[in-house]
Amino acid sequence: MMPHNPSLVTHNGGVRICVIEGDGIGHEVVPTAVEALRAVAPDLEFIPAEAGLECFERRGVAIPEETWTAIDGADGILFGAISAPSDDIPGYEPVILTLRQRLGLYANLRPTLSPPLPGLRPEVDLVIVRENTEGLYVRTEWGDEAAAVALRVITRRASERIAKVAFELARKRRRKVTVVHKANVMKRTCGLFRTVALEVGEEYPDVEVEEMLVDAMAMWLAKEPERFDVVLTPNLFGDILSDEASVWGGGLGMAPSLNVGEGPPLAEPVHGSAPDIAGRGIANPTAALLSAAMLLEVGLGRAGEARRLREAVWKVLAAGYHTPDLPGEEGKMVDTARFGELVRMCLEGERWG
Ligand code: NAD
Ligand code: IPM
Ligand code: MN
Repeated sequence: MMPHNPSLVTHNGGVRICVIEGDGIGHEVVPTAVEALRAVAPDLEFIPAEAGLECFERRGVAIPEETWTAIDGADGILFGAISAPSDDIPGYEPVILTLRQRLGLYANLRPTLSPPLPGLRPEVDLVIVRENTEGLYVRTEWGDEAAAVALRVITRRASERIAKVAFELARKRRRKVTVVHKANVMKRTCGLFRTVALEVGEEYPDVEVEEMLVDAMAMWLAKEPERFDVVLTPNLFGDILSDEASVWGGGLGMAPSLNVGEGPPLAEPVHGSAPDIAGRGIANPTAALLSAAMLLEVGLGRAGEARRLREAVWKVLAAGYHTPDLPGEEGKMVDTARFGELVRMCLEGERWG
């Protein structure tokens, strides 16, 4: 398959976005993002599709055939969250992993930016570039009650292509890449990832390269997040570090991501289905809104609309409106729907606030 190229997106008949709410708070945050996209980019066409654990429980299939058809015809995917319980559910695989792997979405871009919220450090601006297809996520494990083994796969091909994404991105930013690994212990797997990343780095003499063991990285990310620009790391470390980094952006409710590679770009919040708050209408839709902005900008090449959407979200936050997961005045606490409405009004130039 050819790499996804925004310039190849056909505009006759509109740009099609496949919308997969998924499970839990996916049903609450995604409609908000769709409304904002409608306001900022009226030509987009939305095709709703089902997937996730709720779908599996109802229909016996986590990603139904018609969802694959909807994805096939889509220029981009807006995804909420799915549940992936730790207990084994025979026949169920975490949908998001299947999508990333089957669609060849090998790069997961997970930015953290200091938001206009009280009490947070003001100058964090980093992007974790997470390898999305291999490492421990090949999900090949075996064992019994006494012992278990997991396969960890690192290939030159996947390491090279993700490293290129990181260095290209660094060129558009502050020109620094931190390669995060654990090659002191996993000499073959992390060793290969590190070697390839440093080799690719040599092709970018204008970009500063540093390397860091993942344990030290966890510490520096908590202590001095401003020192990072682009963070390049294998799959599982990227998963863990992106939840940690989200704290500097206001928490998981604020952390967006975009999966890119061969198939249609897939935007998704970093967070999961949040069963502890699902169904109460209080989830923070900002992560979904900012993911939608990433889909517009990086996925579809529509930077102006993405900027308008981000600015609207920032304005609403800067005015003090916040869902309960965020700090702020009691009187300006709003629910998911109201937050979304304020963003939409801001985009449509209505009086708000
Ligand atoms: P989670 O991200 O769902 O929630 C962690 C904590 O953050 C919870 O306290 C939750 O209430 C809070 N939170 C998350 N998103 C929020 C939002 N938008 N607004 C306000 N608070 C928010 O992680 P978890 O609880 O470990 O996992 C729940 C389920 O989600 C699991 O089944 C897990 O496998 C799955 N999961 C899916 C994805 C995905 O679909 N990409 C990502 C992570 C976890
Ligand atoms: C994420 C999630 C997924 C992952 C889970 C739900 C399989 O935590 O998108 O960060 O581990 O990649
Ligand atoms: Mn995660």
